[in-house]
Amino acid sequence: MKKVAIFASGNGSNYEKIMENIQAEFLTVIDVVGLYTDKTEAFAIERARRFKTPVHIFELSQYENKIAYETAILKQLQDDGVEWIILAGYMKLIGETLLDAYDGQILNIHPSLLPSFPGKNAVGQALQYGVKVTGATVHYVDSGMDTGKIIDQMSCPIYEDDTEQTLQLRVQNLEYELYPRVIKKIIQ
Ligand code: GRF
Repeated sequence: MKKVAIFASGNGSNYEKIMENIQAEFLTVIDVVGLYTDKTEAFAIERARRFKTPVHIFELSQYENKIAYETAILKQLQDDGVEWIILAGYMKLIGETLLDAYDGQILNIHPSLLPSFPGKNAVGQALQYGVKVTGATVHYVDSGMDTGKIIDQMSCPIYEDDTEQTLQLRVQNLEYELYPRVIKKIIQ
């Protein structure tokens, strides 16, 4: 069993689905030792309380720069013996400090079929562009914005009458299935 940290900045529904998969004994390869967030108001914190996951809050504004911020995070990760980092709606680029320490051991999920629509509001971008198929992607994290090597994807149709809300729901449901499946396969 590998010790993992989940990073989330907001809602935390992917974190919750991962925890449910652990409870259901679908995911037996990981032990989630911490929920790391950069936002004091992240709803993910409430969810973490329910699952009794220790929460660590690191706000970038409290540090001199990104290196100092990530150095503090890294110390906590090392104290916890974390071997893998799972990004689940963490809204910052991972910097050199964490990339060097966790080379090849950081996963991210993104709500589009990368390399299409990286960055923010991927669901809105897909709708705006008029593509007929979109989906979700799990990839390794590198220094770019959603540019790391793709591990797996799932797709879904976009319908004429979709709104951002309806499409987001369809894509998130893919994410809830895809992320636990990839974690199970990749983290050994
Ligand atoms: C997900 O759509 C994920 O793909 C993206 O951020 C969103 C996080 O949602 N990186 P949640 O916080 O897990 O509900």
